[in-house]
Amino acid sequence: CKQVATNVTEQKHQVSRDKRGQVLGVGGFRGCTVWFTGLSGAGKTSISFALEAFLVSRGIPAYGLDGDNIRTGLNKNLGFSPEDREENIRRVAEVARLFADSGVIALCSFVSPFALDREMARKIHKDNDLPFFEVFIDTPIDVCEERDVKGLYKKARQGMIKGFTGVDQPYEKPTSPDLILDTVGSTVGDCSMTVVKLLQDNGILP
Ligand code: PPS
Ligand code: ADP
Ligand code: MG
Repeated sequence: CKQVATNVTEQKHQVSRDKRGQVLGVGGFRGCTVWFTGLSGAGKTSISFALEAFLVSRGIPAYGLDGDNIRTGLNKNLGFSPEDREENIRRVAEVARLFADSGVIALCSFVSPFALDREMARKIHKDNDLPFFEVFIDTPIDVCEERDVKGLYKKARQGMIKGFTGVDQPYEKPTSPDLILDTVGSTVGDCSMTVVKLLQDNGILP
């Protein structure tokens, strides 16, 4: 049976969020998390990293946390069973929460196929009074499969990858995302600018 920590007490920081915003020199606290969800090949990494580049070039601290990358480090002991995906999302949501609390815009690009796991990520932020935006990259599977950026759909169809999202594991579409992006009729640049507008409309960016 698993050991869990007991006798742990929250330790309060002396530094306020206003102060963190001041030190970052970004005209106030802008910490928040943008959570990109969608099938493999939907465009999560492309949009998230384009947005990261845009924000950083304008002096706004932002950092992209991406499934492929996190799974080689922090989460290298996890696979793709529903249980491991849940733990993947839980850990990343906690990391994003810390980035956001420090004043950074955390950009998370994870398939995150299960609605309950995405709700957990949202709750982790809500419980810490940090803005959280769920962005559904609504690219149809036939388009993702046609793109097959990493050749993974081909492998999944051949049975070389088990539990591939959209092939032999489900993707639960978000029912009330903060934003839906269409990547068929628009470019990566268009999509990242739509997210910028979302952040402006919510007072995160000027
Ligand atoms: S999850 O569901 O959020 O835990 O997945 P994530 O951490 O985003 O990792 C997805 C990337 O891992 C590769 N990959 C798979 N994706 C989905 N299903 C299976 N079985 C799988 N196996 C490997 C793939 O490169 C995913 O990245 P993207 O960017 O989505 O293509
Ligand atoms: P994911 O991280 O969701 O698996 P990627 O960003 O790796 O997706 O791949 C998406 C592919 O689709 C890239 O080759 C990208 O150039 C292409 N693409 C075309 N239009 C768009 C768009 N509007 N947004 C995102 N990606 C797009
Ligand atoms: Mg990706």
